[in-house]
This record gives sequence, C-alpha cells and structure tokens, in this order.
Amino acid sequence: MNATTSSTPGTFLHEPEQTQRIETRYRRIVTSIPAPGTLDKLALSAEFFPRVNCCQPPVLWDRADGFQVYDCEGNCWIDFSSAAAMTISGHGHPAVREAVKQHGENGLLAQFNYASEIRVTLAKRLLELAPPHCEMVYFWTCGSETNEAALRLARERGMRMDPEKYHILTHTGDYHGWTLGATQVSGGSAAKPWLTSPDPYIHHLPAAGTEHGNAADDVTDWAGFLASGIADLRQRGVEADKVAAVFIETIQGGRAVPWPIEYVRALRRWADAHDVLLVFDEVQTGFGRTGTWFGFEHYGVRADLICIGKGLTSSLPLAALLGPANVIDLLEPGQIATTHAGHPLSCAAALANLDVLESEGLIPEAVRKGKIVSRELQTLQTCFSGVIEDTPGIGLLHVMRIRNLKTGQPDVELARQFRWEAVKRGVMLMQTEMPTIKICPPLVISDDALIEGISAIGDAIEAVLQTC
Ligand SMILES: Cc1ncc(COP(=O)(O)O)c(C=O)c1O
Repeated sequence: MNATTSSTPGTFLHEPEQTQRIETRYRRIVTSIPAPGTLDKLALSAEFFPRVNCCQPPVLWDRADGFQVYDCEGNCWIDFSSAAAMTISGHGHPAVREAVKQHGENGLLAQFNYASEIRVTLAKRLLELAPPHCEMVYFWTCGSETNEAALRLARERGMRMDPEKYHILTHTGDYHGWTLGATQVSGGSAAKPWLTSPDPYIHHLPAAGTEHGNAADDVTDWAGFLASGIADLRQRGVEADKVAAVFIETIQGGRAVPWPIEYVRALRRWADAHDVLLVFDEVQTGFGRTGTWFGFEHYGVRADLICIGKGLTSSLPLAALLGPANVIDLLEPGQIATTHAGHPLSCAAALANLDVLESEGLIPEAVRKGKIVSRELQTLQTCFSGVIEDTPGIGLLHVMRIRNLKTGQPDVELARQFRWEAVKRGVMLMQTEMPTIKICPPLVISDDALIEGISAIGDAIEAVLQTC
C-alpha cells in the first residue's frame, strides 16, 4: 500500500529545502534538509510505518552522542528533544554502552519472571532512591504500562476495602500513555470516539493553574479550587470515599508549568482524609529532568505510587511502579506479568545510568542549566513578544508558547514552522500538535551548546516572521 504523500513539514516525505551552510562546534548542516542521500530511507519509512510513527522532522538519525544527533550525510544537530525527554544522561553515554555490552556478553538476553542478580540489584538501588514507604518495585517495559498497573492496583486495593471504591480521578491535560487504561486516565482522551465503552468511573478534575489564560490563572485559593472540583464530582454522584486513586502528571510535560504547590498539598490532604492513593506519574519528570530525583519533591508531599520510565535508563525500554508492599503486592501469581518487563539489558543500562547521574552530578546541573535556559528564553521572548507568549519551565524541561501575531491565540501551525526552520538550522526539536516549542535537552549538554541552540531557534523564528 502506498503511503499518503504530503509536503507538510514534519512528515518523512518532505521535499529537500535549501539551507544556509552551518558549521559550528556543535551544529553542522551541509546539505539541503532532508539530506538528499537520506530520501530513499525516509520514503521507505513512510511506506512501511504508519504516519503516527513518521511525524518527527525528516532526518534520518544515524548515530548520536551526548547531546548531539547525526545523520549519515555529514549533518549534526544539537538535540533539544532527548528523544521524547528520555536521554537524561545523554545519548549513548559511554558507561551505559559499556554496561549493556558487558551484560550482553553473558548471554542472559531473556529472563521473563525468573530471578537474576541484575534485576534485584536495580530494584534495591531504586528503593534507596525512593521515599522509605516505597518497599517494592513492579517492573514494566514502558510508561503507559506502569500507569495501567497503578490503575489496576489502585482499584484492587480500593475494592477490597469497599466494593464500590473504584472511582479514579485524574486531571485535564495530563498525559499518562496510550494503552487503553492509560489513555483514559490521560486528560481528554476519554472523549475520543474510538473508545466505544469508556470507563465511566474515571473522572477528570480541572487542571489547576497549568493553562495560561484560563480562569484558573486568577485563582489564589487552591484548596478551594480542589474542593470545588470535588464538589462537582459529588453532584455527579461520585462520593470521595468511593475514590480509589487520584493520578497526577507531576508536571504536565506539554506545558512545563508545575502545579501550584498549595493545590498539590490540598490534594494530598484530601487523599489522606479519604484513604485515596495519590499516584504521581514521573515517567517524564523522574531522574533529574526537573532538578530533583523525582519531580514530586518540588511539592513536599508523599507520593503513594510512583510511575517511572524514560530517564530510568536514558536508553533501553524499562519502566517501573514503586510503592508500598501492601499495594504493589496485591495481585495473585498469574494475574499480570509481561514477557519483557525488567529486561536484564535494560536493568544493566539503568544501573549505569543511575551511576552517571550521581557521579557526574547531573541533577544539580539541571537546576543550574535550567536557569540559563530561562534567561535565554526570556531574552527571545523580549525580542519576539508578539509570537512568544511565555516560556515556562523548570530544570531542563521548558516550553515556548507560540501565539498568532494577529489574533494572539495559540498557533499550532506557526509553532510547527518555527520548529522546522530550527531543525534546518541544526537544532533537533520534537514535533507535536501543540502550539509550543519544547526544550528538553539531555542534562549533559554544555552551557554554550544550550545558548547556541536557543539562539538558533531565535534565528528560525526571525526567518519565518520575515516571510509572514
Ligand atoms: C508523563 C508520561 N506518562 C506516561 C507516558 C507514556 O510512556 P510510554 O511512551 O513509555 O508508554 C509518557 C510518555 O511520553 C509521559 O510523558
């Protein structure tokens, strides 16, 4: 079957566009983009893979190192995507590569639920990093699965306490993954028509203060804001004591605005009062992205269950749910296990990755470098205040919110054009359907590469605006 052809920037079938030759210490663009020598592979990708897997910029990633990504035609990008906020310790850190290589040589490349030293070593390490009430590790392969597991376990626990304690609360605008349960816990997804029988017991609280320009911006009483969300639910027949868990994406990755501390603390108090599990989804914010091991530390509250993934290995697929034994250990043998969860190679990568985060002091670096990003983005905003609405962020997770010059409304298409021009200038960005430019480089990025990359985004914005 032929793939749908499109010239929309961001698909793999993009026509090559002329670029200005760029050769700096960190960026090298010496061909038109997409590079002519990569067009055949991009076309095959578009033919073999669904468009949902072909919507990143049309660059054939050949190799990567630290904070840089290369194609095979001599081009090199500063990576501000971290391959979907994953490569916290950088692409292919030598210590991670070595650990994977060494472990691979012992031939233990499949494990399922049999015991191994590497898995138990990693679990011990994770429990040392997690708060003391976390006693067990439930390994999975991807972030969506950990959220599924949290959903399942929360209901299991709730319904053992009271057969009707199965309601799940979550937040509008959260993202928790694409599997059937996780997508419904994700904000807004439950309304999708393909969900023929959406779970009627998953409810979305309004997202407090995360959406610039909404009514919540004026709110100062966050406990009251929560109480009114809960009261709305009660009117719809959802009693607080019947709630099994409340999910929260620690910092909504698409917006990079932390929740108001008072809101999260009120949520914690409410959860305690009604014996509800508070589940923090740390898949994106865990392992230093925001300048602390876990993002929930910014709020000073207990996280009953912690979903982790992505930055746990900075590389191979691995995810886990951390929590107390009386929740994590609720299921009977045979109830849920998956073949690849806690894969030994991924465990080796995770252990090396955690060593790197510690030994290279990368987590405090995220705080320091985050200040550089804030400063540089604010400068850009001053230059382009008509189109950059604001530049929220924390640690090395920031976004620039793009608005239409004339209407002042969020502008998805303009953001797309800015991103594409930046890619043509040697800055790898993540393509999304949001009116934002997301800046989430590996924590190993150098200060001058950060500054250079943001400045190149400024050049890209200027170039697009000149054509408007
Ligand atoms: C906060 C959050 N939760 C869950 C997920 C889903 O993780 P995965 O893509 O590994 O299934 C993501 C992925 O972007 C995420 O950012």
